[in-house]
Amino acid sequence: MKVDVLLGLQWGDEGKGKIVDVLSTGYDIIARFQGGPNAGHTIEFDGKKFILHTIPSGIFNADKINVIGNGVIIDPYILSKEIDQLNAENIDPEKNLLISKKAHLILPSHRLLDAVYEASKGKLKIGSTLKGIGPAYTDKVARLGIRIGEIDNVEFIRKYNELKERHFRIINTYPYKTSDFKIDGFNFDDYEQKWFDALEVINRIRQIDSENFIDQSLKENKSILAEGAQGTLLDIDFGSYPFVTSSNTVCAGVCSGLGIAPSKIGKVFGIFKAYCTRVGSGPFPTELEDEDGQALRDEGREYGSTTGRPRRCGWLDMVALNYAIMLNGVTDLVMTKGDVLSHFEQLKVSTKYKVNDKTIDYIPFECELARPVYQTVPGWNCAIDQINREDEFPGALNDYVKFIEGGTGVKISIVSLGPDRKQTILR
Ligand code: GDP
Ligand code: IMO
Ligand code: MG
Repeated sequence: MKVDVLLGLQWGDEGKGKIVDVLSTGYDIIARFQGGPNAGHTIEFDGKKFILHTIPSGIFNADKINVIGNGVIIDPYILSKEIDQLNAENIDPEKNLLISKKAHLILPSHRLLDAVYEASKGKLKIGSTLKGIGPAYTDKVARLGIRIGEIDNVEFIRKYNELKERHFRIINTYPYKTSDFKIDGFNFDDYEQKWFDALEVINRIRQIDSENFIDQSLKENKSILAEGAQGTLLDIDFGSYPFVTSSNTVCAGVCSGLGIAPSKIGKVFGIFKAYCTRVGSGPFPTELEDEDGQALRDEGREYGSTTGRPRRCGWLDMVALNYAIMLNGVTDLVMTKGDVLSHFEQLKVSTKYKVNDKTIDYIPFECELARPVYQTVPGWNCAIDQINREDEFPGALNDYVKFIEGGTGVKISIVSLGPDRKQTILR
């Protein structure tokens, strides 16, 4: 067996949670490979809505195993809140959630550092979710981090205090006081107390060597779906640096974030919205700062799942989409939120960029200089969220799908026409 992958092709929030939940019925194991609680993956069914940050989106299928891989970073407090939310629905992650012992911890002082760094950047701030992602991955690479498997170690408290003191020494070089910042509404000491309390909850979840578990599962012919967080254009290497997250969001991240050999990667589902959104700072060539942008935000309810911030909205960017398809080796496309475009008579798609006077079909190194060159296509201009079958698609929606398939050379295998599980059409 091989490991299939589903990951975002834009700036995150493409609908990964919804589609992983739908696809998870066909897999035995769902595994997250990177990112942390900066992710917010929404799943809707039976009139209920859930937002997951750390737990894989297969958790609502009781017979599926969900794995948090070594490439993920974990804030025990946030994870414990997710577990509480599931317990309230009679879902018990102690039964079907596994955590890699090698996954790193996000400490309360990582979150403080994140806030200090952002505050000090002023206008140049990244627009981080302030979940401590950058500082925690920094310590991992600097070989200072603390891993899940160390929580019960006799050295844990000493290591925790050493790292925390190191963070406070850094913070003291900035013109801020700890009390200037709140963490999820709490002052530092209160958050730290909740963080320590949460370690007990985390300790009830089985900790494993996830690379060995996955290898063994593949040998037993179990099927595995790797679930990405964020999106390709936020990748630490290939995104619009420095306005990126701190992990490899591309398919290569599956190999390092779960311990899977490249030859074991199977299908790669690349998910994109029928338009574009971005939350946080950084270049966004097709951004609309007019009433069309506001209409996309209103219709698409484009407010961050993790932070509640309004998302920046714009037309589909096929140059960026092709770049993401190239980097990930996408075998199947998934298009979401076509229903949000329903009231537009015409749609625009950027098929090229203009940089100064030159027309190009790739993302330039100075991506902030790229201006979109649009092709206009007809909209379907009718409601499509109740459609159940592909042969009910209005002609203009079919044409939009074919236009994207033609421009990318990849089949759109799944079309999502609403937030609910049921509003999903397999082609
Ligand atoms: P993720 O981070 O990629 O999992 O995406 P988010 O959950 O952050 O954001 C996607 C939002 O769009 C969520 O509110 C979903 O419920 C919603 N959504 C997903 N697919 C569709 C769709 O096809 N149409 C509409 N209207 N909403 C969708
Ligand atoms: P999901 O998995 C959208 C963005 C932040 C910011 C930048 C860096 O729900 O698609 P970080 O907190 O990682 O330091 O923030 O990345 N960002 C996301 N945007 N969806 C996400 O995750 C994101 N995770 C981080 O807004 O611009
Ligand atoms: Mg999200």
